[in-house]
Amino acid sequence: MSTLILGIETSCDETAAAVVEADGVVQSSVVSSQADLHARYGGVVPEIASRRHLELVAPVVRAALEDAGVALDDVDRVGVTQGPGLVGALLVGLSAAKAIAWARGLPLVPVDHLRGHVATLYLAPDPLDPPFTCLLASGGHTLLLSVREREGYEVLGSTLDDAAGEAFDKGARLLGLGYPGGAEIDRLARDGDPEAYSFPVARVAGLDLSFSGLKTALLHAVRGLTETDLAARRADLAASYQRAIVRALAGRLRAAVERTGHETVAVVGGVAANSELRAALPDARFAPLELCTDNAAMIASAARFARAVEPPGYLALDAYPSAPL
Ligand SMILES: Nc1ncnc2c1ncn2[C@@H]1O[C@H](COP(=O)(O)OP(=O)(O)OP(=O)(O)O)[C@@H](O)[C@H]1O
Ligand SMILES: [Mg+2]
Repeated sequence: MSTLILGIETSCDETAAAVVEADGVVQSSVVSSQADLHARYGGVVPEIASRRHLELVAPVVRAALEDAGVALDDVDRVGVTQGPGLVGALLVGLSAAKAIAWARGLPLVPVDHLRGHVATLYLAPDPLDPPFTCLLASGGHTLLLSVREREGYEVLGSTLDDAAGEAFDKGARLLGLGYPGGAEIDRLARDGDPEAYSFPVARVAGLDLSFSGLKTALLHAVRGLTETDLAARRADLAASYQRAIVRALAGRLRAAVERTGHETVAVVGGVAANSELRAALPDARFAPLELCTDNAAMIASAARFARAVEPPGYLALDAYPSAPL
């Protein structure tokens, strides 16, 4: 049987585990979202997230093994998200991974969550070969990357303030929609006129991006409306706001492609699920819909290309909250 990697992901509000083969075939991928728990607060509450991960991590790992039809004894290595993310949440996954690996004398592969998002593209059945230019747009990050090898990437530009997913979430909140807001705006925008409002796309030097001005513009537009007017214009506001984010992302991605010269273009991260972004970039390779937001298949995939640490070396590993510079 081929080498089996157990992936574990707990960096934010999804508890996830997956079993992936060395050749990138996903045998199982289980994601338990805590979104419902956090919705009433309008965002992720770190302490609640850690406690829930603690309750869920063992059953989710068990479910991933069961779905794959394998036992822990069949696993050859454990890949786990080390950072960036909420440190308490990360520590739950990291500790579980250490315990599983240590009990069986297996190597452990600490994985960077952002490399994980990119490694979605390396999964079967149609793995992407570098080089390519990549937009990583998620809840916490927005990066333009030149990817020349599966082991890493070069950062060409990033957001100076909010991430694209965060801009969607904050916009949704201003519009009175639920959390997380990206998918809600996406859905509502289908009934709206994207040209109804002209929201600004920030002009930032180089390949960086900025979304804070856009958010303020939406705030001003919403403030001027009565409850009844807001209800009548909500779809137009959502469509116009989404159009501005998509324009900014697509424009920057095109500029990045000019810089790298890589013919292949890819988009990963939660915002890669956005239907207008997908339509705006018909030639780009998008992560499969079910693997855009956090999951552990992408972590197991990245673990195939990252350094494995033998026991007992990994017992001292710590989680890191923000992306290393
Ligand atoms: N259809 C969609 N359109 C736009 N945004 C979306 C859509 N679906 C999900 N999102 C956004 O994707 C984000 C979640 O993505 P992801 O799980 O990759 O982020 P994260 O793990 O929280 O952040 P990071 O990966 O930076 O640590 C949320 O901000 C959510 O609103
Ligand atoms: Mg993520």
